[in-house]
Amino acid sequence: MKERIKQLKNEIEELLNNSKTLKDIEDIRIKYLGKKSEFNKILKSLKDLTQDEKKEIGPFANEAKKSVYAKIENKKHTIELNFDAETEWIDVTAPGKKIKKGSLNPLTLVQRDIEDIFTSMGFEIADGPEIETEFFNFDGANMPPNHSARDMQDTFWIKEGCNDGMGDGQVLRTHTTNCQLRYMQSHKPPFRIIAPGRVFRQEATDASHEHTFHQFEALVVGKNVSVANFLSVAKSFFSSFFGKEMSVRVRPSYFPFVEPGFEFDISCTNCSGDGCSTCQNTGWLEIGGAGMVHQNVLVSGGYERDKYTGFAWGFGLERLAMMKYKIDDIRLFHSGDIRFGRQF
Ligand code: PHE
Repeated sequence: MKERIKQLKNEIEELLNNSKTLKDIEDIRIKYLGKKSEFNKILKSLKDLTQDEKKEIGPFANEAKKSVYAKIENKKHTIELNFDAETEWIDVTAPGKKIKKGSLNPLTLVQRDIEDIFTSMGFEIADGPEIETEFFNFDGANMPPNHSARDMQDTFWIKEGCNDGMGDGQVLRTHTTNCQLRYMQSHKPPFRIIAPGRVFRQEATDASHEHTFHQFEALVVGKNVSVANFLSVAKSFFSSFFGKEMSVRVRPSYFPFVEPGFEFDISCTNCSGDGCSTCQNTGWLEIGGAGMVHQNVLVSGGYERDKYTGFAWGFGLERLAMMKYKIDDIRLFHSGDIRFGRQF
């Protein structure tokens, strides 16, 4: 009897191996395991065996039955999934594939940092167009046509203006100072804003110059806003941004939209002022332009002359990112070089 069970089991297994459809399997099940099947008869006849035979054959027969049913289920699965468990198994213990994540451009990171710091100081974030009228970029900022200061910023002109002081030409904005007037014309002082954004200059590129770069403008206008306010906001911002106590200093300079105007330096991020190769032993790093907003600009913004005062600055985002992440070539930001991008 044992022999016969073995034979039947082998026969079923062979048939299962060769079966291709669920119907084949069902046929095998009915034929070999159904009510009228030989296998079933054998199982039923077990009760008539002697005690010793039962002990020997019973577990064997049950084992065979279990194994055959398991194989049937397995084969059904294989057919249903169109999946061959023998060859197409998955090693769930194998180490996973590393997922390639994108990363943010360091300029985005720096811009987010700046926005966080300034909003925590009560500043609003303002915006302006990259394609700008000559008025908002130049005339309104106290730079009328033929003003020599226009030569300070080599400009991409989109449309020549009439040169009549009405500012109807069009340019790619050369600075975020265009946002000053746009904001003033729709808001009343007191206010404090920053305006980060992309600007353009028609310049040959090298490791520290790009034709397309970013600035962020700061503008605070109210009654009795002073240079001391500017120094204190700047010191707080740079100390937060670099995560250590920073010093700031101003040097006299000229920008038509501010009076007085200054260049603005911070203590060297590398040596904190002792002198090193980064700051050419001066202890200071140049950051950008700033000053007290010219009354002509406040008037173009729609305010009464001499009623308000304000300070403004315009700094390059690239310059801050280069300092923070020790990047030595400005052209890397827009290079699209994945080896650069992956580092952030
Ligand atoms: N707009 C100036 C520039 O791009 C920077 C600046 C902004 C200077 C505000 C003073 C005040 O060069």
